[in-house]
Amino acid sequence: MHTFGQMIERGHERLCFHHDTKTGMRAIIAIHSTARGPALGGTRRWHYATEEEAIFDVLRLSEGMSYKAACAGLPMGGAKSIILLPEHGQLATEAEARAMGRFVDSFSGDYIAAEDVGLDPQYIDWMAMETCHCMGGETTLTGGNPSPFTARGTFNAMKACLQHLGSAPDFSSLQIAVQGLGHVGMDLCRILHTAGATLVVADINARRVEEAVEAFDPKVVDVNDILHTDCDILTPCALGAAIGPDEVRRIRATIVCGAANNILVDPLREGISLRQKGILYAPDFVANAGGLIWLAGLHLGYSREELGRRNDAIEETMLEILEMADSHHSTHHAAIAVAESRFAKVPASDKEPTHAG
Ligand code: NAI
Repeated sequence: MHTFGQMIERGHERLCFHHDTKTGMRAIIAIHSTARGPALGGTRRWHYATEEEAIFDVLRLSEGMSYKAACAGLPMGGAKSIILLPEHGQLATEAEARAMGRFVDSFSGDYIAAEDVGLDPQYIDWMAMETCHCMGGETTLTGGNPSPFTARGTFNAMKACLQHLGSAPDFSSLQIAVQGLGHVGMDLCRILHTAGATLVVADINARRVEEAVEAFDPKVVDVNDILHTDCDILTPCALGAAIGPDEVRRIRATIVCGAANNILVDPLREGISLRQKGILYAPDFVANAGGLIWLAGLHLGYSREELGRRNDAIEETMLEILEMADSHHSTHHAAIAVAESRFAKVPASDKEPTHAG
């Protein structure tokens, strides 16, 4: 499909290309919606086989950010940016990051950049030398690493799933399978271990597995088996597109609730087939909103108490979505409906942030 066709179908406002003539950096910023406010979304630094693939990715990811912000009740829109690498593994430089910072700055605050795959807090700090419209750097001013807040939000989403199924939020009787022991996966393991859960884990990185074994004494399974292992909750915390039709057939969990973005290969299709199999799916952009709430909230000037309250509210929002899913094709469809109903409605109180001390 042509670019404008994709934008129209997904409802995008802007898609902007930039070539920095000094460094050769090529980047794209996609703003899906500013209906609820300025749009925050990560910058992905990645090699794409074709420009079409890159455009598809940035449009899809930025649309997801609008849904995430709306479901989290933030007065923010959705956007995403990508830096197109000529080849995988190209070293990040200050000059490149500063060029990206200037591109972000040209949006005058309509777009706020943050970390995504391929970026680290140092990169954000370099960008911040050129723009004040970025979050997630090493300084407290830009929020630092949001992963602990993402993990906490995912745990809150799990509690909603248990409540929806009529179970007590007693994790000590639960076996939980965690795919991916990166920033979020490891933090989530820590929370679940403290809550008494029995963990089953897998990661392609042996060092991360060793760290988890030392800290939480989990059962370790092969990366090819984690999605099909016997468990109460399956929590994908690695890369996107973890669950397609084949995985749906083989999943043995009662609940799928993870932090990864775009867990389902085709969310509309897999959303329905998971329901048909009697598996409760917690829509990912609701479950993993804790990091966005943290960064966007700091940018908006929310107090620490307000940030905590909004993270805890993920439980209530998830419960509301799960309860209304009966009148939708799937829990994913219900979450989209909630987000779309909020695109044009921003509570007046949210437009006036309470400034942190
Ligand atoms: P990360 O890069 O720190 O961790 C990912 C982990 O998954 C790594 O340890 C990697 O070795 C492992 N992995 C990759 N492929 C795997 C496979 N096939 N099987 C098992 N393990 C595999 O990333 P991070 O920050 O922990 O994010 C995890 C997911 O959560 C990503 O999908 C990210 O987009 C999403 N997310 C992260 C947020 C955050 O605050 N960091 C916020 C919202 C979503």
